[in-house]
Amino acid sequence: MSYLLLYSTQDGQTKKIIMRVAENIRRAGIACDLRDLATVKQVNLAPYQKVMIGASIRYGHFNSILNKFVIRHQKQLNQMPTAFFGVNLTARKPEKRTPETNAYVRKFLIKSPWQPSLSEVFAGALLYPRYSWLDRIMIQFIMRMTGGETDTTKEIEYTDWEQVDRFSEAFLKI
Ligand SMILES: Cc1cc2nc3c(=O)[nH]c(=O)nc-3n(C[C@H](O)[C@H](O)[C@H](O)COP(=O)(O)O)c2cc1C
Repeated sequence: MSYLLLYSTQDGQTKKIIMRVAENIRRAGIACDLRDLATVKQVNLAPYQKVMIGASIRYGHFNSILNKFVIRHQKQLNQMPTAFFGVNLTARKPEKRTPETNAYVRKFLIKSPWQPSLSEVFAGALLYPRYSWLDRIMIQFIMRMTGGETDTTKEIEYTDWEQVDRFSEAFLKI
């Protein structure tokens, strides 16, 4: 038995989250492969019993490689147990951390031809010192507008790791 875990990341937080999921799955005695959507060209889902996809938001959008992958593999994805999670900073607010209350994940699920068996939203990381000058200014502006951290010397990880562990458990059960 083997599971496939795919991710789309810009600064590494989505990878960090899915690596924690992979650890939990392996601890349960199940093998899993971890792949970056940006580098997978062709992937055969047939050998896998379950598939998980995680992706982050940048300026309001998931990377277009997510939609391309979903369109290409929708038939297979809809015929097996699957999970999806989105990562963003809006979800730092607990009331915006569910698939129903997080606008990015809600919209994705409405539009997507793939309907995952399980969906989740995780808060990401705010890594001001690592951003380009323009991104730093833009994110600071968004944070100011939404009552978030504006000190550009700070790096803050909002991800709730217990939530990630609960999601891993739920994935093992679907
Ligand atoms: C340039 C940039 C744009 C972002 N745009 C948004 C956004 O529109 N909405 C949001 O909630 N979070 C936004 N974020 C926050 C990211 O989703 C968050 O930092 C996440 O942890 C990134 O995950 P990744 O490292 O896997 O790419 C943005 C972050 C950056 C650096």
